[in-house]
Amino acid sequence: MEIQHADFIGSFTTNSQCPQDRKPEYAFIGRSNVGKSSLLNMLTGRKDLARVSKSPGKTQHLNFYLLNRVWYLVDLPGYGYAKISKTKRKEWSKMIDRYLSLRKSLCSAFILLDLSIDPQKIDLEFIERLGQMQVPFAIIYTKVDKIKTGQRKKHLQKYEDALLANWSSMPPYFITSSTSREGKKELLAFIEEVNQQYLNYIQS
Ligand code: GTP
Ligand code: MG
Repeated sequence: MEIQHADFIGSFTTNSQCPQDRKPEYAFIGRSNVGKSSLLNMLTGRKDLARVSKSPGKTQHLNFYLLNRVWYLVDLPGYGYAKISKTKRKEWSKMIDRYLSLRKSLCSAFILLDLSIDPQKIDLEFIERLGQMQVPFAIIYTKVDKIKTGQRKKHLQKYEDALLANWSSMPPYFITSSTSREGKKELLAFIEEVNQQYLNYIQS
């Protein structure tokens, strides 16, 4: 799948504000600074569709993008950003939990994990949370350009060990870099396939 159209639809804070047209939907979740907005720009081939910043915490709402006029990609605010108040953090976490657990057209969440660093406790906790909420998810490893090719296996193994301590099998995963565009084709092919399954399902 090539992305021909990418339209910003809006920034929302509650589920009732979100589009209600039941198009297949995917969400990018991950720690602040993991590369969610960059990946969205990379997938769409647009430099500044989503705001990327050196200072974390830029994305504060559920930002909806409509791709190829068929499916939504939602760029969620990152978790684990230290410099925000406790109250604000609670608000964010409530907003994200509500969105993830109640959004019926969410085909898959994508949890973004920075492959260039060790598995982080907060990420593993968030993955647990996805499991508890029974949200279908896949993993997107980001920033793979920052590690040497020979080190990849070692980094992947660390994540796999951490995940398999709590899960019986690995979810689907993708290895990506917004800089080198690695993983773009594979990720879009996965989305295309799930879109098809979803569309068949709601039409049946
Ligand atoms: P929040 O909106 O704060 O949650 O952050 P985010 O997850 O959207 O991260 P963002 O895309 O803004 O990227 C954060 C920083 O990481 C920026 O400085 C990006 O340039 C950098 N970055 C993102 N993806 C990659 C990548 O694949 N490779 C490298 N080398 N840097 C990246
Ligand atoms: Mg962002």
